[in-house]
Amino acid sequence: MKTIRDFDLKGKKVFIRVDFNVPLENGKIVDDTRIVESLSTINYVIQSSGKVILCSHLGRPKGKRLPEYSLKPVYEYLKNVLKAPVKFLEDITGEEAEKILAELKDGEVLLLENVRYYEGETKNDPEFAKILAKFADVFINDAFSVSHRAHTSVVGIAQLVKEKGIGFQMEKELKYLSKIVGKPERPFYAIVGGSKVSTKIGVLKSLLNKIDKLIIGGAMANTFLAAKGYSVGNSFVEKEYIEIAKEIIKEAKEQEVKIYLPVDVVVERDGEAREIGLKEVLEKDKIFDIGEESVKFFCDSLMGAKTLVWNGPLGYFEKEPFHRGTVAVARKIAILSSITIAGGGDTISAIKLAGVDTAFSYISTAGGAFLEYLEGKELPGLAVLKS
Ligand code: 3PG
Repeated sequence: MKTIRDFDLKGKKVFIRVDFNVPLENGKIVDDTRIVESLSTINYVIQSSGKVILCSHLGRPKGKRLPEYSLKPVYEYLKNVLKAPVKFLEDITGEEAEKILAELKDGEVLLLENVRYYEGETKNDPEFAKILAKFADVFINDAFSVSHRAHTSVVGIAQLVKEKGIGFQMEKELKYLSKIVGKPERPFYAIVGGSKVSTKIGVLKSLLNKIDKLIIGGAMANTFLAAKGYSVGNSFVEKEYIEIAKEIIKEAKEQEVKIYLPVDVVVERDGEAREIGLKEVLEKDKIFDIGEESVKFFCDSLMGAKTLVWNGPLGYFEKEPFHRGTVAVARKIAILSSITIAGGGDTISAIKLAGVDTAFSYISTAGGAFLEYLEGKELPGLAVLKS
């Protein structure tokens, strides 16, 4: 794959697929991480006297021009942080597009409105690809986090533009993530949490071939506990995945991968949080966190790791006091001398809550793409750049 350094950008329209899918509250950006991460590529094009065209989605408006998914807040943000004139194009397909493109000077920036306002985007529609390609002499994918989507602004456009490659943010993602999918330094441990086993089967199965220990937390641990015969009361559990959980436990044994499950839990009982042993869970209890014994058990198990990957919180961390287990483990990871890599939206929020985001070797900005990459799948947005 080529990188942005391989092209002469002067005077060219450089179409950068970024991921500005940032959380908004009342029209204000509440976490700008993804935008900040894209600035080095944008500034590089500005300094190389290219014309920057920025394209992103925001949310899932399904082809409808819903105002709450407008990229205008990002436009306001960019005007403040970039040292170059920034313009905004409301309608990518309209007449104004040609005019604004013709007037765009070298070193200037044009942000396109949410590309998912157009039905053609998620269908990888060749006609829509032609429209997008008008904005591109050079195509740069700097959005690892959306590269698992075979969408027009990720794949279709890249098939039409000859000069194509990746930006600095993508390069950084691949550099770190390849440390876990390639030949990770062993012992290699994984912590997998979150609510559903169903969304993580692929990752769990593919990790079993590489890791030495697997630590499971979050609501998905309930399904594993149920598979081991424990009562999980009124907790979230995917009954139809209990058999799969049993299979994973069996496969882990065969591969000599040690699985760590919670040994105690924090439940919500009659509106109150209670820390109890696994055998004390009542029918009405909802397991929302791992208990102190489990924190110790998990943290001790992490000693000696050379590489560690983490995806998914270990409890209902958004609701106090059920954040404690996740925060405690995050803080433990932060002081390990291992290569520590985390990814996924909730995981990042939990790490930030623990105040240790700068202590990880790398935190991926990706969610779904991170999981698919860990599974060993080829991401369409990357495959197309190799062709
Ligand atoms: C993400 O937040 O994971 C990416 O922006 C992709 O968004 P999507 O899941 O709506 O495609």
